[in-house]
Amino acid sequence: MSSRLNMTASLGDVPHHSDSAVPCSVHDDSTGDVASELSLLSDIESLSASLGEKFEEIRMIHDLTARLELQDDPSETCQELLEQLIVCVTCETLIIQLDPDDDDVLGGGIQGIGKPIELSTLDNIVLAAMDENGFGSGIGEQPSAPEDTPDTNAVAKRRVGDRPDWQKETVIVNHSSHPDLADRRVVLMPIARGSVRLGRLIAIRNSSSNEFGTIEVDLMRSVLMVLALHLMNKRQFNEMQSMLEGTVRSLASALDAKDAYTHGHSSRVADLAVQLALRLGLGDRSAESLQLAGILHDIGKIGIDDSVLKKPGSLTAEEFDQIKRHPVLGYEILKDIRPFRHILPAVRHHHESWDGGGYPDGLAGDEIPRDAQILAVADAFDAMISDRPYRRGMPLEKVREIFQKGRGQQWAADVVDALLQSHDLMLAYAEQRPFARPDLQPQA
Ligand SMILES: [Fe+2]
Ligand SMILES: [Fe+2]
Repeated sequence: MSSRLNMTASLGDVPHHSDSAVPCSVHDDSTGDVASELSLLSDIESLSASLGEKFEEIRMIHDLTARLELQDDPSETCQELLEQLIVCVTCETLIIQLDPDDDDVLGGGIQGIGKPIELSTLDNIVLAAMDENGFGSGIGEQPSAPEDTPDTNAVAKRRVGDRPDWQKETVIVNHSSHPDLADRRVVLMPIARGSVRLGRLIAIRNSSSNEFGTIEVDLMRSVLMVLALHLMNKRQFNEMQSMLEGTVRSLASALDAKDAYTHGHSSRVADLAVQLALRLGLGDRSAESLQLAGILHDIGKIGIDDSVLKKPGSLTAEEFDQIKRHPVLGYEILKDIRPFRHILPAVRHHHESWDGGGYPDGLAGDEIPRDAQILAVADAFDAMISDRPYRRGMPLEKVREIFQKGRGQQWAADVVDALLQSHDLMLAYAEQRPFARPDLQPQA
């Protein structure tokens, strides 16, 4: 830190009198001034160093916070944190251990940086450091390993986990004669949020290095507070995600149960829409959005009368009007569920036509949301190749013909091109289509 270096240099300019010719007994006002100036400079130097350390701490926490993403794997987050932390807190080995949680969101992994260390050695160091700080009553009093237990690491880990005080307090051992700590300095610090324990940081430094000081310990604590908050958010995020996925599965199953002929249609449309999106160069976010929109695009059919939905043969005009309500019904069903808001345009507009002749809003061309354009092609493809109550699925040649005809008329031209240029993809989907009406003759 430059401020610290400057201050040290300026101290060298201050005159001192250890070899002065002035007799000690002679009172000299300037001696008091110099002493006071030295004291002041020393205070300023210390304050400057402290500010420098704080600045580093704040900068690091800022960098860390800016990079934290809920989608990231917790082990990657921890590794990145260790890489940043070891720059400020020089350690021989720096380790983060995350506890396994019920939903396995955090994974219970162990991440380290610096000199590798055996798990059994690590556990012994942890146990010894805890004993040195009065947590537990000595390794010898812990349950010993059964003689036929070969995995001493597992035994040591169990013993660490058994300690009731583990993770509640920060443990700092700068000096110890314990055999496992004699040439080491150690900091054990909990990663916790409120009463929830998430894991621990273990910092190990050779005893020839400086002691762990307050500033370093404060820095580690601040960084771990940020990590703990992030990990808690990650847990909650994953809980929300799994609730959402459960809701989607339930809705999709409700639709599948209602209409046997369209069983699996939604998930096939979703998968194909994702493939088309990727071929069109859309990013992962769009693909994820299309996956969800695909699964839920026909959810409004839940509100359509069974006698119409399952009617074999052609529909009357009124019956077709009823069917045409399903995009809006789907929109209404999903519109108040916040995590589904981004798929509402695709759900509502997946039956719009490029020439404006579709429903429900008669949108044309680029007015049709991009996701809906892609979904429309995937939806039509799956409908064509699948059996209907009154017909077998169409052969691929006929499907190609229909899409060529409707390119730029019913469907967006580039989306149709993406499909027609992916013959392997079409073939793969055609081969996995379910045959609901094997009794009917295949179409020519
Ligand atoms: Fe539909
Ligand atoms: Fe559909």
